[in-house]
Amino acid sequence: MASIPLRIGDHSYDVLIGPGVRTSLAEVVRRLGAKRAVVVSARPEEWVPDTGVETLLLPARDGEQDKTLTTVEKLCGEFVRFGLTRSDVVVSCGGGTTTDVVGLAAALYHRGVAVVHLPTSLLAQVDAGVGGKTAVNLPAGKNLVGAYWQPSAVLCDTDYLSTLPRRELLNGYGEIARCHFIGAADLRGLPLPDQIAASVSLKARIVEADERDTGIRHILNYGHTLGHALEKASDFALRHGEAVAIGTVYAGRLAGALGRIDEARVAEHQDIVEYYGLPAALPEETAPAALMRLMRHDKKAISGLAFVLDGPTGAELVDDVPHEVVARVLDRMPRAPLADLVDLVDTTDMARS
Ligand code: GLY
Repeated sequence: MASIPLRIGDHSYDVLIGPGVRTSLAEVVRRLGAKRAVVVSARPEEWVPDTGVETLLLPARDGEQDKTLTTVEKLCGEFVRFGLTRSDVVVSCGGGTTTDVVGLAAALYHRGVAVVHLPTSLLAQVDAGVGGKTAVNLPAGKNLVGAYWQPSAVLCDTDYLSTLPRRELLNGYGEIARCHFIGAADLRGLPLPDQIAASVSLKARIVEADERDTGIRHILNYGHTLGHALEKASDFALRHGEAVAIGTVYAGRLAGALGRIDEARVAEHQDIVEYYGLPAALPEETAPAALMRLMRHDKKAISGLAFVLDGPTGAELVDDVPHEVVARVLDRMPRAPLADLVDLVDTTDMARS
């Protein structure tokens, strides 16, 4: 088991990673001094560990459709009916959308009640469940209402991952792959729990330095400018991690075109993404003009087109990248039909295949 500390003054906590770590929940709840717990779970009841205190179990669903203020209101209503107080605890169990919405309900209830996350997807274990960002969507866009609310602990039980479909694992590998370009060592060949621990450790150091995302935390969005555009342009047929992987290859090529990195480093982007079995080409179905339009609206942009790019001193946010370079590099990206890039009907259980 790995225990990664994340230290932000009064909001410090540990992220535990390994098989069976969810059974630490009762000890975490005991240390918090909580008398009651509400567990909001998008997973079967038997996946939820004992809390050691009086518990209300609320079923939830992963997915953007339930990441709304209405869900937050319903959850808080249930907290009231159960008699949850400020010194009790909320527990989330599920993927990143569940940790996001439950985290926000905990941040708002009684102006803040402790929350413990049990992320069950690889994506949530390496990214969404760690770092305190919580949010819900509005009809106008994703994650438009949220708060920074650090959990009291994160239990990344790697046993949860053994039943994930292959594409769901790939979704998380997209975020692990981008760690290679924002300060992680070469993670290839390491056992998955070690790759998760290295990714979480990197994120913890970045969040400690910039909890509120005013500077260095931007580098976690490596590959995300094109990645977000691809998700939208493909109507979410590309999963987040797949889109980020293509965006990572593109970010390498763009950094090369701007003279920030050499050819070997550009090629390394492709090598890493392909190592994880992730797509490295643009889907033929997406029009470059639509991608350019979507990238101009990326929320990182202060003026013009903004990308997190590798360079002589590492990755950094580069604002106002010339339009013609962005378009030329996009035009030169390899292209393939979407169905050749990802297995659109994948239901394979990777652990058993
Ligand atoms: N997912 C990026 C961040 O936590 O800042």
